[in-house]
Amino acid sequence: MGWHLSILIMTTTCFMLFPISDQSSQSELLQQLRKQLEYPRQLDAWGNPSSDPCYTQPTAVLAVTCEGNAIMELKIVGDRITKPPKFSGYSVPNVTLSEAFVLDSFVTTLARLTTLRVVILVSLGLWGPLPDKIHRLSSLEVLDLSSNFLYGSIPPKLSVMSKLHTVTLDGNYFNVSVPDWLDLFSNLTVLRLQSNQLKGSIPASIGKAAMLTELALAGNSISGNVPNLGYLSKLEMLDLRDNDLDGELPEMPTALVTILLSKNSLKGEIPEQFGQLNRLQHLDLSFNFLVGSPPEEIFALPNISYLNLAANMLSGSLSSSLTCSSTLGFVDLSTNRFTGDLPACLNGNMNNMVVKFDGNCFSADPAHQHEAKYCHQSHKGRGLNQDDGLVITVVGILFIVLVLSLLLIASNKKSCQKVLAEQQFLRKHKQDNSTSGMSSELLVNARCISHAVKLGTQIQPSYHIFSLEELKEATKSFEQSAFLGEGAIGKLYMGKLENGTLIAIRCLALHQRYSIRNLKLRLDLLAKLHHPNLVCLLGHCIDSVDESSVKRVFLVYEYVPGETLSSYLSGSSPEKTLKWCGRLQVLIAIAKAVHFLHTGIIPGSLYNRLKSSSILLDEHLTAKLSDYGLSIITEEIYKHEVVEGKRYLQNNVAAMEDSEDDVYYFGCILLEVLMGPKLHRKGGPFVLNDLIVSAGYLNIKPGRA
Ligand SMILES: *[C@@H]1O[C@H](CO)[C@@H](O)[C@H](O)[C@H]1NC(C)=O
Ligand SMILES: *[C@@H]1O[C@H](CO)[C@@H](O)[C@H](O)[C@H]1NC(C)=O
Ligand SMILES: *[C@@H]1O[C@H](CO)[C@@H](O)[C@H](O)[C@H]1NC(C)=O
Ligand SMILES: *[C@@H]1O[C@H](CO)[C@@H](O)[C@H](O)[C@H]1NC(C)=O
Repeated sequence: MGWHLSILIMTTTCFMLFPISDQSSQSELLQQLRKQLEYPRQLDAWGNPSSDPCYTQPTAVLAVTCEGNAIMELKIVGDRITKPPKFSGYSVPNVTLSEAFVLDSFVTTLARLTTLRVVILVSLGLWGPLPDKIHRLSSLEVLDLSSNFLYGSIPPKLSVMSKLHTVTLDGNYFNVSVPDWLDLFSNLTVLRLQSNQLKGSIPASIGKAAMLTELALAGNSISGNVPNLGYLSKLEMLDLRDNDLDGELPEMPTALVTILLSKNSLKGEIPEQFGQLNRLQHLDLSFNFLVGSPPEEIFALPNISYLNLAANMLSGSLSSSLTCSSTLGFVDLSTNRFTGDLPACLNGNMNNMVVKFDGNCFSADPAHQHEAKYCHQSHKGRGLNQDDGLVITVVGILFIVLVLSLLLIASNKKSCQKVLAEQQFLRKHKQDNSTSGMSSELLVNARCISHAVKLGTQIQPSYHIFSLEELKEATKSFEQSAFLGEGAIGKLYMGKLENGTLIAIRCLALHQRYSIRNLKLRLDLLAKLHHPNLVCLLGHCIDSVDESSVKRVFLVYEYVPGETLSSYLSGSSPEKTLKWCGRLQVLIAIAKAVHFLHTGIIPGSLYNRLKSSSILLDEHLTAKLSDYGLSIITEEIYKHEVVEGKRYLQNNVAAMEDSEDDVYYFGCILLEVLMGPKLHRKGGPFVLNDLIVSAGYLNIKPGRA
């Protein structure tokens, strides 16, 4: 009896003791990680000794998931998203973690959390070569270290991690070659190494990584051939854009849905086999040196929606009986050497399809075509003719001018140029009108969403398609007490979901007619915009009469408690004034959000109706932009808003017509924040004078804020 009791006591104590000691060593490890990461803002919650990381509510920037007491998933998304113009492998103040940081010891600490299955450590400023010992995390399934400062080679020991299936290392500085041990990597399904500095060629062994579904190596300096990928029977997505690949195109695996190979130096003809890729939806071969006639079957593939063959040396004439798939939304044949007539299905505005064919020798639209001579001449060997001579001279002169101006502009202007280029890109698209075309193009390119903020596959806040009933329930049938306000772009309601989550619902009445499919493409793109400084879009609800006409769209956002920036600046309540450093923080946060909207997707979302009343500050004074990206949904609304915006600025300057973009409005917010009422009393009159003078140029009345 006695020994029974003592065994009972012993086992109970064991049960009680072990989890506790486990837990405490785990939380010690988390504290160590926090220290090694130099106390990022995102981990402030761990500073409170009484809170257990396992039980804190996951957010977009921090999530710890536990089973029992073991930590399964760790996600931290930092805000170190600036990339210095030059990174030479050492710490950069205020950009990377400090000089004291040692990646090797960080990984040692991390690897002691042996139960981890998902590790997502994004934009935290981690710097150094990634140590091989990362393989000690033997349960790991998902590894995402994008947007850090990792360099050197990708640790070969990754291949012994038998459970690992998703590896994302985008936006780092890996600068050796593409790993040639991928065939050993039995379970690898997703490999993303975009925007690094990888060199050399793609090893042939990659063709044996049979489980791969996604391979993204865009934006490196990879040269050589595209290897034979024929055995990759599960590969759905291949993105090798923007490299130095040359050689001929191989045949492609038949499961592919997306093939992106633009901006390389690929030669030869497009293989006939491309005409049999029945699942293909997006094919981008633009900006290469491809010749010959494209296989006409690619226009008729059952699911093809985006077909870009621009800027190659494709020639011949397309047969008049060429058929186009009904799914086709965008075709670009421009700047090639096509001759003859444009096939009927590409001519005329069928199905809202966008077709571009300038810069060829088609018989249609001679104003934008070359003479037939041009296509035939260049078709037979490319002898120098007069035109070419002229072109070379002009290019030479342009080059010299370019070099000179680059020298002048030198360092920091890079991002500005990028924004300008994208702006032109977008403008061009606007001229092509073609709202539907833009959306399919946007959709393809939306894959380049910056991984700085791309969240993990497993603990991404899930996007939900709400039913009208759910929303009615959440807002008590949109009754008056749920009504928050009405802006030019529709009414705003507050609601509470069944699980208690507070939401904000924006109701958009559409002036433009969209098919449901088209609208969904646009919503898809909007749903991809995740950033710590953007109010998170949780889902949507489409209220339609039938398949072809949509009455209203409801966008469901997270509810951010707190006030708008403009109410902070109005000075109405003295306890709610922003200190200087608070104002600076807000401006930086908005700048980050805008930078993300402009560069996180290509083409960027450039018109976001920035104004202080759509910037929300939560209780920690973190700024979040609302109402962003709506121009993606409807240009109609966008135009309306610009008019509204002008009224808002009390500004009739005709010359400002062209500046209806974010940069201009960001400038206005900047002025507004600097000139908030408190400042007149406290701030330096010296700075203010200057500002008021410049504000005078803009016809902004300084007192209005
Ligand atoms: C890779 O980058 C690091 C840091 O910039 C540098 O020290 C190293 O020499 C580079 N290695 C190669 C092979 O270019
Ligand atoms: C880094 O930031 C701190 C404050 O955040 C500032 O005092 C320091 O001057 C900055 N250093 C550099 C090199 O910008
Ligand atoms: C691949 O993963 C599955 C489960 O995710 C696992 O059961 C299997 O053992 C793995 N394959 C290998 C070769 O390790
Ligand atoms: C075409 O796309 C639809 C929807 O995306 C899909 O259900 C269908 O299976 C696809 N067809 C082929 C041949 O892949």
